[in-house]
Amino acid sequence: NDSAQVHASLLSWYEQEQRALPWRTTSDPYAILVSEVMLQQTQVDRVLPKYQQFLSAFPTLIDLAAAATADVIAVWVPLGYNRRAVSLQAIARQVVDKYDGHIPDTIDELLTLKGIGRYTAGAIACFAYRKQVATVDTNIRRVLHRVFLGLEHPEPKANDAQMLSLAEQILPEGQAYNWNQALMDMGATICSSNNPLCGSCPLQQNCRAYTEMGQYSLFPSGAVL
Ligand code: ADE
Ligand code: SF4
Repeated sequence: NDSAQVHASLLSWYEQEQRALPWRTTSDPYAILVSEVMLQQTQVDRVLPKYQQFLSAFPTLIDLAAAATADVIAVWVPLGYNRRAVSLQAIARQVVDKYDGHIPDTIDELLTLKGIGRYTAGAIACFAYRKQVATVDTNIRRVLHRVFLGLEHPEPKANDAQMLSLAEQILPEGQAYNWNQALMDMGATICSSNNPLCGSCPLQQNCRAYTEMGQYSLFPSGAVL
């Protein structure tokens, strides 16, 4: 398939269809860190109300670092996975100690913080600092795999390192922010794991998995896994 066409189709779909999400209207690295940690195991709908509450309770990284851990957990509780609240605060405290309270802007420095993995490091570099870097979470992985490599079943055709390298190769020049956000929206709303809506998908003409599906019978949504 033609990556220039995939770029054009996905970016123009995103212009029209993007979800209005509060972490897309800020460039505060701290607010973006909070959103990415919250979104690690929790759906967008459930994160939305807690996100604003958390930022009201702890408006800056310095406030979060200085807070009592019990108070941080208390605000976090409805989201579940409370360990993430402890980990988020630990990240804030490391940033105070090692980086004078300023969240770093490179993947290598971000990765020196315990609790930040390659996905979150890429997300912060890209979404907070507009760095032209790739990042791969489960939604991005699924969409890129289907479009460029084909069906993930019976076996994925790439491991995590290979997916990251693919994501780096196909990153459209100067468009990393919209591209990465668009892939997440696609994975969440169209190219879902069990019921992809290929009939409404802007990438159908350029999707390898869709082509491969032709030889199988189709589910009502127009998709087969
Ligand atoms: N999941 C993880 N990061 C996200 C983001 N920035 N927007 C929507 N969903 C996400
Ligand atoms: Fe996903 Fe179907 Fe679109 Fe391919 S055509 S990207 S499988 S929704």
